[in-house]
Amino acid sequence: MTDSISALSSPLAADLEISTGIDAIVARVRAAQASITGARAADPARKESFAQAMKRTADVRGRGPIMPYLGTGMGNGPLVELLDGSVKWDMLNGIGVHMFGHGDPRMVAAALRAGLSDLCMQGNLTSNQDSVAFGEFLVAEAKRSSRMSHCFVSNSGCMVNEAALKVCMQKTNAAPRIIAFQDCFMGRSITMSQIGDAAAYRQGIPLSTLVDYMPFYDPQLGARGIEMALWHLKQYIHRYPGQHACFVMEVVQGEGGFNTAPREFFVALMETCKAAGIPVWDDEVQSFGRTESMFAFERLGLGEYIDVVTIGKMSQACACLFHAEMNPKPGLLSGTFTASTSAFQVGLEALRTMRDGGYYGTDGRNAKLHAAFREHASKLVAKRPEWFTPVKDSFGRASTQYVGGTGGMCRFTPFGGDKDRIMKFLQNLFEDGVMAFYCGHGPFHVRMLPPVGVMQPEQWGPVFEIVERSLARTA
Ligand SMILES: Cc1ncc(COP(=O)(O)O)c(C=O)c1O
Repeated sequence: MTDSISALSSPLAADLEISTGIDAIVARVRAAQASITGARAADPARKESFAQAMKRTADVRGRGPIMPYLGTGMGNGPLVELLDGSVKWDMLNGIGVHMFGHGDPRMVAAALRAGLSDLCMQGNLTSNQDSVAFGEFLVAEAKRSSRMSHCFVSNSGCMVNEAALKVCMQKTNAAPRIIAFQDCFMGRSITMSQIGDAAAYRQGIPLSTLVDYMPFYDPQLGARGIEMALWHLKQYIHRYPGQHACFVMEVVQGEGGFNTAPREFFVALMETCKAAGIPVWDDEVQSFGRTESMFAFERLGLGEYIDVVTIGKMSQACACLFHAEMNPKPGLLSGTFTASTSAFQVGLEALRTMRDGGYYGTDGRNAKLHAAFREHASKLVAKRPEWFTPVKDSFGRASTQYVGGTGGMCRFTPFGGDKDRIMKFLQNLFEDGVMAFYCGHGPFHVRMLPPVGVMQPEQWGPVFEIVERSLARTA
């Protein structure tokens, strides 16, 4: 089975009449997208019907979404059309899922090819060749700089995190404790909500998981911060010898605030874990594909320390990778579904395009898009300093770091990182034509996950024009 054979979900995809048909459909989609060229205000004539549609959404779900988003199914790269007739710059993309934005012709064609398959959903007992190719692709990418050799696929980040934890627990003979960073987020199963460091996400859930929290890297403390983190880790290992199933880390924290740390921080902690026989699990569900290397651990040269890594979002199907020594006994990992055929096909198309399209490296497209973001955000900070007041961290120290993140994980921090004002700004921003979100637990930041697959650096121009307008309205 080769990488190219697996591009076809069905022998029918090689049929000339079918491929001509797919090309014709994609051309029609392109033509229909041509009118979507920039942000557009909502159509007043659709106000009533949109309000009704949102009410139905809230009724069926039990509550409305944070933002009044209901798409028409049309979009054009970073732009998406909503049912109220508005067009928004989508700088959120379902929290990083739509790496190629809306209606990318390559992804549409991949989904059409997937539609030819005999199966809509694949599973652990019914895999087609594209499902195997998906796992092989990820293992090959990870293997460049780590020992990863196997891949378990499931359909949410949370479920592959459950798999990773089970693998670690079995490997350590049912060790009951988990070491995790403060402000981490891992999904919403009963166990993952307990590890995730947000009280609101585990309200009403009886606590049954033993978690030891570590401070994340503190840029204001630098080397002293590394020393302190190491001290914490050694305390836990000394207090509970042989009791830890794993240390789970996001090498770029997502929900926690797009926090980054230097290599030496992770190396110090990972070496200590290795010496104590504690498996290291890297949760890249949010950062995967978006930094300067496909796996964020690769850019930091951490592969040799990693025992398990989980990925999701932009890959469409989610995965838990581990090396041969972590391979669990039969029965531990399975499930009816792995993912849909279209998730495998579109995921593979996105991953191959990024691998081969010059996205990675310090001079790659991801790095360039981030540099352009920083340029625009920094200019705005300089132009309107009254909106960028010092940001207080949890110790009450003031910072003037207003712009941060890495690759396709972009953050900026207006209004001192105050939650209420940032939420108000995000609402105004949505109305004005840009979708973004927040991250961090105090200070709060404005979070952007642009569609790095298709977004051009110059497209930050119109996005930041709107950002400036909405900040002015909020201030
Ligand atoms: C780091 C991290 N892990 C796990 C998850 C959970 O993924 P999912 O929502 O697909 O279950 C997320 C989701 O945001 C995440 O950011």
